[in-house]
Amino acid sequence: MPQLIAGNWKMHKTRAEAVALAASLRAAPIPPGARLLVCPPFTALAAVAEALAGSAIAVGGQDCHMAPQGPHTGDISAPMLKEAGAGFVILGHSERRQNHGETSEQVREKVLAAVAAGLTPIVCVGETADQRANGAETDTVGWQISGSLPAGFAGVVAYEPVWAIGTGRTPTPEEVAAMHGFIRAELTRQFAAAGAGVAILYGGSVNAGNAAGLLGLPEVGGALVGGASLTAEAFLAIAAAAR
Ligand code: 13P
Repeated sequence: MPQLIAGNWKMHKTRAEAVALAASLRAAPIPPGARLLVCPPFTALAAVAEALAGSAIAVGGQDCHMAPQGPHTGDISAPMLKEAGAGFVILGHSERRQNHGETSEQVREKVLAAVAAGLTPIVCVGETADQRANGAETDTVGWQISGSLPAGFAGVVAYEPVWAIGTGRTPTPEEVAAMHGFIRAELTRQFAAAGAGVAILYGGSVNAGNAAGLLGLPEVGGALVGGASLTAEAFLAIAAAAR
């Protein structure tokens, strides 16, 4: 199974800029070890999906509401994402857990909504710097997994240490391998057979220089890339390191 290289564009790119980036990605050959996914902001999602229609590059949202519709000002539902051309949705990103007070219980409800709409959820977990300093990183991630994933979970998990996001700092290879091994063991323990097929992405300051090292580690099934997904060159250089 090729590794999943996912770009989280966060709150970047107007519709025109997003379509231009999608066109550059589409024009380039996809590295053989990689499956590509881009997650534009909501306003650009449909236009990017159209620009990538018929290509092998998938499109995803960055969040969804747990209800299919309703009086939820500013929110977007999973069926709306699906209809706009998304196949995936990022859920429980630390920027939503921290800045929007999202709890693991809410993330679990969103996962159920995403699956019901036919989307593949990418559920983010990861410890803060304080939690790691206190030796609480595996406890934190273990609780996030048990709280955020519903029974029978068959989506994607992304390990994103909060302190590595946008900082240029990454855990050591040993730390990444240890956490991915722990997540794999928890998925297998908590979700039995379904857990064994779940890809575990690494996210947090992935770039062209460190991608090969990170993607070569055991149980790393791909990368969730923020800043380095905002240009085709940087994103494709990471994808070229996939295997
Ligand atoms: P950076 O790659 O910019 O550190 O962001 C990681 C991230 O949060 C992806 O979801």
